[in-house]
Amino acid sequence: MSLHQRRILIGVTGGIAAYKICELVRRLRDLQAEVRVVMTEGATHFVTPTTFQALSGQPVRVSLWDEQGEAAMGHIELARWAERVLIAPASADTLARLAHGHADDLLTTVVLATAAPVYVAPAMNQQMWAHLAVQANIGTLRVRGVEVLGPADGDQACGDIGSGRMLEPHELRDILVASFGEQPLRGRRVVVSAGPTYEDIDPVRFIGNRSSGRMGFAVAAAARDAGADVTLVAGPVAMTTPTGVRRVDVRSARQMHDAVLDAADSADIYIGAAAVGDYRPAELAGHKLKKTAGSPLRLELTENPDIIAALAARPVHPFLVGFAAETRDVAGYAQDKLRRKGLDMIAANDVGAGKGFEVADNALHLYWRDGDIALARTAKTELARHLIAHVARHFLAGHGSTP
Ligand code: C5P
Repeated sequence: MSLHQRRILIGVTGGIAAYKICELVRRLRDLQAEVRVVMTEGATHFVTPTTFQALSGQPVRVSLWDEQGEAAMGHIELARWAERVLIAPASADTLARLAHGHADDLLTTVVLATAAPVYVAPAMNQQMWAHLAVQANIGTLRVRGVEVLGPADGDQACGDIGSGRMLEPHELRDILVASFGEQPLRGRRVVVSAGPTYEDIDPVRFIGNRSSGRMGFAVAAAARDAGADVTLVAGPVAMTTPTGVRRVDVRSARQMHDAVLDAADSADIYIGAAAVGDYRPAELAGHKLKKTAGSPLRLELTENPDIIAALAARPVHPFLVGFAAETRDVAGYAQDKLRRKGLDMIAANDVGAGKGFEVADNALHLYWRDGDIALARTAKTELARHLIAHVARHFLAGHGSTP
């Protein structure tokens, strides 16, 4: 991959994750991008302008009132120069000021003055990220077309664990690369299912599974980056909808079946990343089931419809990609499922202890009728991009390359 002569403006704001942007600038320079850095005053307390100047090979600007800087490349010129604007780390304060259209420092002024796509990579304490004020600002920015990257969950510099970690430099680099990419699925319609299904037993209990929806949501975002028009049918998950993706929320396997079949009517590709419950209680109790001390409770289960097999049974159906989550003989079961369900491709993953479900990274093995490839363990977001690249290649090989 190359970003030869691509012009990327990075806005660094005041947060400890600023140190990671040094690495990002290097990685972008490795790809031959032209990088210019604008810092807020707060950012200079974490990393010096000299560091970014050395790494980018360009003067770094902090102040709107810098006469020399303005003479060399004025703020409007800088805004026009940029093909992409990435604000990383994006502090709560900068997000607030962007949401309100401030223009009292160089960075916010450039954001107002640019026609380039703007990306923000928030980084802050998990409590701050969860604050309604921050979420409202993020909502405002999203509606205006600003692309919000992350944040990820995990350990934080402040000692907390939660959502608010900035995406890693390699993830930000990949997103920028993809944004300049060829978009092989432009004009195509992709339906993705994600998350678990919940099968109600009574008004308060259900049978579910441990799928977090992360993989499916990452696949939906990657399909969008590849240019597709994406519908995401999501089971009950605590995940933010990727910008630009249409989301349909469902709870049970039967609801997911109906929503997927409906959306798939006009779809080119269906990717079944949901962990659909195979069975549901034969009867839904109208009232909470009571405990009868001393005697076991027997639940009778009945089979759910197989969504992807139902699509495969249609005379005309989208290109079908299934997922196979297995705890043993992953290859054997996956290949069998590919044939038995009539799929075009299957992504097999090992969900043994600590793998697959509820974790941020994963490895996959893709199988199609006459081949296979292993996709090495990496962040689900990156893995999803690799998966979509393979899906696009196989889909286009079978369907020609014009929409
Ligand atoms: O049989 P198994 O559940 O392992 O198959 C996994 C694949 O089949 C996944 O792509 C899943 O979304 C899909 N599936 C489905 N409907 C079901 C069960 C699984 O579409 N009822």
